Amino acid sequence: MLGIIGGSGLYEVDEIKILDEIEITTPYGEPSDRYIYAEYKGKKVIFLPRHGRGHKYPPHLINYRANIWGFRKLGVKKILSISAVGGINPLLQPGDFVVSNQFLDFTKVRPVTFYEGIYTIYDEADYKGDLVDEYMKNDRVVHIDVTEPFCPDMRKIIFSIMEEKGFRYHRQGTYAATEGPRLETAAEIKALQRLGADIVGMTLVPEIVLARELAMHFASINVVTNLAAGISKERLTSDEVIEMMHQKNQEIKEVVLSFIEKLPEKLECQCEEVLNGAAI
Ligand code: HPA
Repeated sequence: MLGIIGGSGLYEVDEIKILDEIEITTPYGEPSDRYIYAEYKGKKVIFLPRHGRGHKYPPHLINYRANIWGFRKLGVKKILSISAVGGINPLLQPGDFVVSNQFLDFTKVRPVTFYEGIYTIYDEADYKGDLVDEYMKNDRVVHIDVTEPFCPDMRKIIFSIMEEKGFRYHRQGTYAATEGPRLETAAEIKALQRLGADIVGMTLVPEIVLARELAMHFASINVVTNLAAGISKERLTSDEVIEMMHQKNQEIKEVVLSFIEKLPEKLECQCEEVLNGAAI
């Protein structure tokens, strides 16, 4: 099943039938909100607002482990993430979509892995009998490969939707994840640019890493809401980020609905094999 992480406006669409709102507790604590279990054109999908309803959690306090574990519990194997980013690459304009293919991690204070002996308080009902369970039960140290962190098959589907709809988008981009909640200095953005970053945001890491640790497929659609610090000549505000996300809301919904429709049950990529041979 597909899980979608994004703002809460995403499932407020007439064609989406909400079947249930599911409250979940996990060994890692509470997810950001209740999961919305819904159906679109006969396909089941689960939504979660990353920051919780009413945007209660700042990026560094989001319980990423609980959010991703909750998805696992509900049978989600593929995650589509929608997020707002600042544009670093001069080719980017506010309002562009970027289908990121790499990340640089500059986060500092977030729990970054599932594999640190939390199986002791693990709910038996979560048991799936897979390598995740085996590694957790035996307290194994796990080093997952993230050479290509995003699901190539899901990315290709996003490309085809963007082409079909004629939206302005970029087929690749390196996402620099900063700790926040403050925005970056102009010098930090200049440094990130030299390191090869195209966009900057505060939520992709550890979200993608945790999903991959559970052998899920993960793809991200980033909306450039502003030019990053120092590239923009103006002071940055949350107002402009929210305003741009509102402006793009209709297009994002169209992309998400088409994605739900086009995503096949079985993908050909290697994402689900990432745990083979990954433990010490
Ligand atoms: N920096 C970090 N995160 C962001 C930005 C930014 O400029 N815009 C939207 N999210």
